[in-house]
Amino acid sequence: MAYGLLKGKKGLIFGALNDQSIAWKTALKAVEEGAQIVLTNTAVSIRMGTIDELAGKCNAPVIAADATSVADLETLVDRTMEHFGGKFDFMLHSIGMSPNVRKGRRYDDLDYDYLQKTLDISAISFHKMIQVTRKKDAMNDWGSIVALSYIAAQRTLYGYNDMADAKALLESIARSFGYIYGREKHIRINTISQSPTPTTAGSGVLGLGDLMDFSGKMSPLGNATAEECAAYVISLFSDLTRKVTMQNLYHDGGFSSMGMSRRAMRLYEKGLRFEDVILNNLPDDDEQQ
Ligand SMILES: NC(=O)c1ccc[n+]([C@@H]2O[C@H](COP(=O)([O-])OP(=O)(O)OC[C@H]3O[C@@H](n4cnc5c(N)ncnc54)[C@H](O)[C@@H]3O)[C@@H](O)[C@H]2O)c1
Repeated sequence: MAYGLLKGKKGLIFGALNDQSIAWKTALKAVEEGAQIVLTNTAVSIRMGTIDELAGKCNAPVIAADATSVADLETLVDRTMEHFGGKFDFMLHSIGMSPNVRKGRRYDDLDYDYLQKTLDISAISFHKMIQVTRKKDAMNDWGSIVALSYIAAQRTLYGYNDMADAKALLESIARSFGYIYGREKHIRINTISQSPTPTTAGSGVLGLGDLMDFSGKMSPLGNATAEECAAYVISLFSDLTRKVTMQNLYHDGGFSSMGMSRRAMRLYEKGLRFEDVILNNLPDDDEQQ
């Protein structure tokens, strides 16, 4: 059901690769809620993915840009303003990639050139897109900027590798720029810390299936899906959240506040481990609190 939450608003969405992408679901929902959008991704991802299909559904142009290139971002923002005939109201940063993860380099054996790329693509690109947008005065007052993060910024999660460091930097940029842009133009900047989600980027995380099973069992509400994440992003783009800024907002079914759950404990009481349940497809009993 649509509520017209973004009626009359215009926004720029980074990171839709295919129909699993969080940015894809957000783009569809933004249009459903009355927004006009521009889509962007790298030239390679536009070729390899299916963003053109999304563009057709959303009646939106696709403008290629590498989010690590300030020159690309400047052209992107100019062309976005041309398309809208003026400023816009929201931006989504839904970008992440680690060459160390892709090449199987462990955290205690990182390639430092790859680490620079991880940080540039997954975090510094957020600074770059905000800095370019602000210098061009491309956003309307009371606009909203959101990036997607993960709890590995605060807690150590086996296998998340240098993406944990990138997410910590990403969340810090939201606070530092949130102060500047908020003070000047009432533009708010937040990060959403999302549950593990089966997407192309998510599949790169070591043992995503087990991680999803674990966090699902720990969370009273279960893992948050990509669609649910999109709905939360829309609420942050809407005028209903105008005083929320410089926050890292958990969207994880309660996982971040849990220590041990009944569902997880039951496995140990039965002398089972997660692997036993997964491999043997045993039911898990979570009737009691
Ligand atoms: N999937 C999960 O489990 C999960 C959990 C928490 C947070 N996140 C975050 O959500 C965001 C979106 O990821 P997703 O899960 O939808 O996966 P996805 O693979 O669909 O999206 C990642 C996007 O990053 C884009 N990208 C990579 N390098 C780029 C560059 N240089 N310039 C511009 N774009 C570039 C890719 O083309 C792709 O569209 C990421 O920040 C990710 O870390 C994902």
